[in-house]
Amino acid sequence: MDKDITVLAIESSCDETAAAVVVNGRQVLSNIIASQIDIHKIYGGVVPEIASRKHIEKINQVIEEALVTADRTLEDMDAVCVTYGPGLVGALLVGVGAAKAISYAAHKPLVGVHHIEGHISANYIANPDLEPPFLCLVASGGHSHLVRVRDYGEYEILGRTRDDAAGEAFDKVARAIGLGYPGGPQIDRLSGEGNPDAIAFPRASIEDAPYDFSFSGLKSAVLNYLNECRMKGVEYSQADVAASFQQAVVDVLVNHTMLAAENFDIKKVAIAGGVACNGGLRAAMEAACRERGYAFYMPTPILCTDNAAMIGAAGYYDFVRGVRHGLDLNAVPGLKLG
Ligand code: KG4
Ligand code: ZN
Repeated sequence: MDKDITVLAIESSCDETAAAVVVNGRQVLSNIIASQIDIHKIYGGVVPEIASRKHIEKINQVIEEALVTADRTLEDMDAVCVTYGPGLVGALLVGVGAAKAISYAAHKPLVGVHHIEGHISANYIANPDLEPPFLCLVASGGHSHLVRVRDYGEYEILGRTRDDAAGEAFDKVARAIGLGYPGGPQIDRLSGEGNPDAIAFPRASIEDAPYDFSFSGLKSAVLNYLNECRMKGVEYSQADVAASFQQAVVDVLVNHTMLAAENFDIKKVAIAGGVACNGGLRAAMEAACRERGYAFYMPTPILCTDNAAMIGAAGYYDFVRGVRHGLDLNAVPGLKLG
């Protein structure tokens, strides 16, 4: 048997400082995540300058903890993998700087990883039998992409959002109905108490671009509904708004994904990104796949939101394909996929 390949992975693109040790892209020995949510909550969203500072405070400690938990040393690592984009530039730079320092000091190859490729690869950890090709819906706070995974490291973006990302819509609507940041988990929870058919919110689709998404119209429809209620002095049900909004997002995400699967004849469907934690989306996508006889894959919730294990999974496949970066690796906030 070939020798195991063990990588140290680092992620700092947004508001989680994370490090992990991953073997052969699929076996997670440690997955340490220091979340900054409690700080950003005060401001109702991620404050980039604060995120960078907190990453600097935490990064060494998180990396150390990942190695100790995995019972490995830097010597045992075959490579250092790090997210270098897309994301907040100041936040990315902290992870990239730390990875370069380790790569230089410990004489380990450096592999820069695309954050979205990481989200998609979380599915490899959760599902040891999953191999490309497959279709993956990536829905997070910053992205809503429908991606055709042709092979390891080979991606074709079939659809993307024209305006807000799905997670961004969850966060904005949550704020409008008085829930804190991040809004997704709170809307998810509250939806269970509401009626998803109570309010007919729009399901947008774009002519000539059937796999693209648009969530700004839905967000405006929710805001208009709330304003109308306030102007008429009518009490609205927070739970009904949450449930009806969530159902509208889920319907669009599932319908677009099923349409792409059908048109491109892809019988394996996966979901990824923070919004893939959503109970309504997980259930609806699973049911839609079952109905059509497609295999369905989803990471456990902790691997859906930002983490470094997913970067280790993607980084492993990059590494075995020969991807290497030099010490001139820089953060690329608008890095494109594929
Ligand atoms: O993947 P992620 O951690 O960060 C980005 O790369 O953006 O995603 C964070 C996003 C936030 O917008 C959050 O509200 C959303 O994922 N989210 C959810 C749920 N959990 C997190 N959205 C809907 N339902 C959830 N349960
Ligand atoms: Zn992410």
